[in-house]
Amino acid sequence: MKLVKKGALVALVLLIGAGTVFAGGGQQGGGQSQSGGGKGLIGVVMPTRSEERWIKDGNAVKEGLEKLGYTVDLQYSDDDIATQTRQIDDMITKGVKILVIASIDGSALSNQLANAAAAKIPVISYDRLLMQSPNVDYYVSFDNYKVGGQMGDILITGLKLDQAVTSKPVIVELFAGSPDDNNSVGFYQGAMDKLKPYFDKGVLKVPSGQIDRAVIGTLRWDAAEAQKRMENLLSAYYSGDEVLNGILSPYDPISLSCLEACKSVGYGTPGKPLPVVGGQDCIVASCKSILAGEQYATVLKDTRSLGAATVTLVDTLMQGRTPTGLDTTSYNNGVKIVPSLLLDSVIVTKDNLMAAVVDTGYHTAAELGL
Ligand code: BGC
Repeated sequence: MKLVKKGALVALVLLIGAGTVFAGGGQQGGGQSQSGGGKGLIGVVMPTRSEERWIKDGNAVKEGLEKLGYTVDLQYSDDDIATQTRQIDDMITKGVKILVIASIDGSALSNQLANAAAAKIPVISYDRLLMQSPNVDYYVSFDNYKVGGQMGDILITGLKLDQAVTSKPVIVELFAGSPDDNNSVGFYQGAMDKLKPYFDKGVLKVPSGQIDRAVIGTLRWDAAEAQKRMENLLSAYYSGDEVLNGILSPYDPISLSCLEACKSVGYGTPGKPLPVVGGQDCIVASCKSILAGEQYATVLKDTRSLGAATVTLVDTLMQGRTPTGLDTTSYNNGVKIVPSLLLDSVIVTKDNLMAAVVDTGYHTAAELGL
């Protein structure tokens, strides 16, 4: 497994290096296309504009490609599958040279992907794996299993699980991501593999008994739905003496909603601390919450790096080259193994937030109200 990850990292470095070289070559005259002007029209589809991370992703890919001379059709699908299929159909009709797709439902685009293949348009699955289709050429993402492991590590550290004893078990509830997003599987599995030894020892307990991914999933990552579930859990299992110590959360807005639900029943007051909650995406509101000592941590997946890796991959393909050194074992979409480029993510707590987020320019001090 380790070797595979190292291979992916090497591949990324090679691709980024190669991209710079190829981009230079392209500017000297190659790669003109019929449609879109410049070096060709690239279609980029993102799931929704209502989540901070996808706006950053869209901007990073668009700006990077435009800098290399490509024309970009960037569309957001409002978390609506019909909108997304229409946008992709339109892009195929317009004659895009490559499609970069972050899906809503990973299994819902098979017809569009077949049409793309028929039109010889390579498809890059962006962040979320496109499932159940042979017509997916590449996958660019973070190491989702490792991200899940970091979610588990956040609870292990934040709840000091290594010091916990069976006579006073640590009490948690679990949330998972959207069931139609393959990333949810990696996040859940990575986290549960880390937490399993503590469940097995009996130092970690889930009073609701709701542990299966199917039961704890949050369709479309909807934070309002998660908040309702948290409120229901609190009134069903915590109205007596039971105190909730931690929450496994796969996504910052879910973390913040769960914290709201907890506050509304008295957590966050003297003698009743807020539960330890992690998250994912390092959104501005969560960074502020972390600095304020409420959300405990998040996982930063730097969308600038994902954007840059995607831009390099697009450019490599547009130069007619075959990217090499990709991970060809980890991501099976149900029909084939999709060659993947997997990036690393970083746990962010109050201790390293300034260095990991502000000093790197991911968010500015002003955005965080500092
Ligand atoms: C992404 C996460 C994001 C979630 C909700 C997942 O596919 O990997 O970064 O938090 O979707 O948008």
